Amino acid sequence: MGKVAHVGVVGSGSMGNGIAQVAAQAGYQTTMFDIAPPQLERAMTGIQKSLGKLAEKGKIKEPADTVYKRIKATSQFNDLKSCDFVVEAASENREIKFKIFRDLDALLAPGVILATNTSSISITEIARQTKRPELVAGMHFMNPVPVMTLVEGIKGMATSDACFKTVREVAEAMGKVFIEAKDAPGFAVNRILMPMLNEAFFALQEGLASPKDIDQAMKLGCNFPMGPLELADFVGLDVTLSVCEVLYRDLGDSKYRPCPLLRKYVEAGWYGKKVGRGVYVY
Ligand code: CAA
Repeated sequence: MGKVAHVGVVGSGSMGNGIAQVAAQAGYQTTMFDIAPPQLERAMTGIQKSLGKLAEKGKIKEPADTVYKRIKATSQFNDLKSCDFVVEAASENREIKFKIFRDLDALLAPGVILATNTSSISITEIARQTKRPELVAGMHFMNPVPVMTLVEGIKGMATSDACFKTVREVAEAMGKVFIEAKDAPGFAVNRILMPMLNEAFFALQEGLASPKDIDQAMKLGCNFPMGPLELADFVGLDVTLSVCEVLYRDLGDSKYRPCPLLRKYVEAGWYGKKVGRGVYVY
């Protein structure tokens, strides 16, 4: 395990492009891979906009363009070959992630750390897909990545202390505060956040208050920056449901059962802000 200089990111959705951006801000040469070139284009436009905002406020040390030019966007998986640290941020789907880890393991030099931004899949099981389980760890960023300060670090059963130390160092170089959570369903953030979002849907289903008033209640009553329904729309109702399903299945406790109304929204394809319709219309 050498010094990290070149970071690879798999996936260029809202999490992937944010991770690529903070990697470049930390001075790492950055390669962002996605199978879909139009998504890569959208990602690079978003990064440019975000860097512009941060530069305007003096929140980055270098000119936005210098940081931007450190990122190479590619749809060629082989371009990740020279990376010495990779963060996977592809779809939250077990089979997709498992295949990516088998492919990364085959492509990358021995000693390269493979981190995953999964929000709910077992790190131990992802690590098992590779011949280097000691070099696989969870590195869970929050959305929007350039603004949110937390990274949850998660050790799988086989993750070595040396690997985990490097993951922490890379997260800190990216300007993040690192906490360590166990490899248990939802880790720390989603174990606590998702039941609250789910409960907001039960409240809505029961007619406890209007969507706007539920959100106002939590914003003004608890000082949350976003109300729970607004936040679920922001995270994605599909993602929210899928994490709730993992908590319910893996913890086996009925208190985690997904709210039928949340499921209805997902069945309707109303996934939230990203599709222009969720609890709210955008
Ligand atoms: N890049 C750079 N700057 C950004 C940005 C981005 N991508 N997104 C927002 N900002 C900046 C804005 O420019 C603005 O800066 P100023 O205050 O200097 O003007 C600041 O952030 C606030 O933005 P806005 O004024 O647009 O809106 P806001 O005050 O509502 O803040 C927010 C937006 C930061 C997203 C805030 O609403 C918030 O913190 N929401 C909660 C987010 C949250 O809980 N995230 C975790 C989700 S859970 C998760 O990610 C884990 C999982 O596995 C599901």
